[in-house]
Order: sequence, then C-alpha cells, then structure tokens
Amino acid sequence: MAFLPEGIERVLISENEIRTKVGELAARISLDYAGSQPLLVGLLKGSFIFLADLARALNIDSEIDFLTVSSYGNTMENSEVRILKDLAEPIQGRDVLIVEDIIDTGLTLSKILELLRGRHPRSLKVCTLLNKPSRRQTPVTVDYNGFDIEDVFVAGYGIDFAQKYRNLPQLVVVKKL
Ligand code: PRP
Repeated sequence: MAFLPEGIERVLISENEIRTKVGELAARISLDYAGSQPLLVGLLKGSFIFLADLARALNIDSEIDFLTVSSYGNTMENSEVRILKDLAEPIQGRDVLIVEDIIDTGLTLSKILELLRGRHPRSLKVCTLLNKPSRRQTPVTVDYNGFDIEDVFVAGYGIDFAQKYRNLPQLVVVKKL
C-alpha cells in the first residue's frame, strides 16, 4: 500500500482502477475522434494529472491547452466564473474536448460551456473522471464519464483538499474533522 497521509480516511478508487478507466475512456475518445485532431482543454488545477494520463493513452493526434477559472458564489442564481488564464489560441472550427477532474454542482462547467460555445468550435464535448450526480444544481451533458461517486470529500490524483493531496496517486476520501 502506498503512503497515505494522516488526514486520509480511506482509498476510494485505486491506482489500478484509475488506470483501467483512463484506458477505457481513451479508447472511446480515440474511436470517436478518429480522423480529427481534438484540442484537449484541461481545467486547472484539478485536471492536470488526469489530462496527462488521458493524453498519453490516446492513439490519435491531439493538442493540449489549459483554462483556469475562479468561481464566485455557489448557487445557480449568483454563480459566475472569472477567467484567470485563458486558452492560448482561438477554437473556432476546432473539435474541443473539455477535460475535468470532477463535476459537482455543474455550475463551473455550465459557465465554461457557455463561454466556449460563444467562440464557435466545431464540436464541444466534456470528459470527466469523477461525477457527483447527487450534487447537481444545473444540468450538464457529460459525454465521457469515469466514475459516479457518492457525496464525500474526495482528493488525490490532481484533486485537492485545501490545496493538499493533489500528488496522491489514488483517489481518497478525506477524514471529516
Ligand atoms: C473543482 C473542479 C471543477 C469544479 C467542480 O475545481 O476541478 O472545476 O470544482 O465544481 P462544480 O461542479 O460545483 O462547479 P476547484 O474550484 O476546486 O479548483 P481546482 O481545479 O483548482 O482544484
């Protein structure tokens, strides 16, 4: 068993399970985008490890860019995202695949979809490693979903808890204080 810090309650999804799932997602994406060269858009910071593994598991050409947003508010009425780091290139006419670590309320993603749709990509889809359907406040279409999970504090594999634990190779549940 790999190192687990003090604040961790248990492993939710092991390295092996993640690797298998990433392989499955990459196989589907490679088939669906055959003949295209999708632009993978990772939402920072949480997606950086998932994107790195997913991109290496694809067997098609792809390009990579990153978007960083900060969220304000946590209800549908007052949610707003501010772009902290925008994409480097225009996406008009491109096949764009947003790569997310986790979809919770869906508020961040729905704002990003609205923003990117306005830039007229040829196609715009979403791939997430984790999904918490029970927390959804606004509907979002998820084209490629790794795991549906219960409503727990999850961290590891790029995902933080108070900026810690992003480096853990597995997905873990954080202890409640
Ligand atoms: C997390 C995650 C999603 C968002 C999901 O990012 O990466 O972008 O929250 O939540 P929602 O569905 O309720 O909008 P976070 O703001 O924690 O930033 P990080 O990626 O830098 O860790």
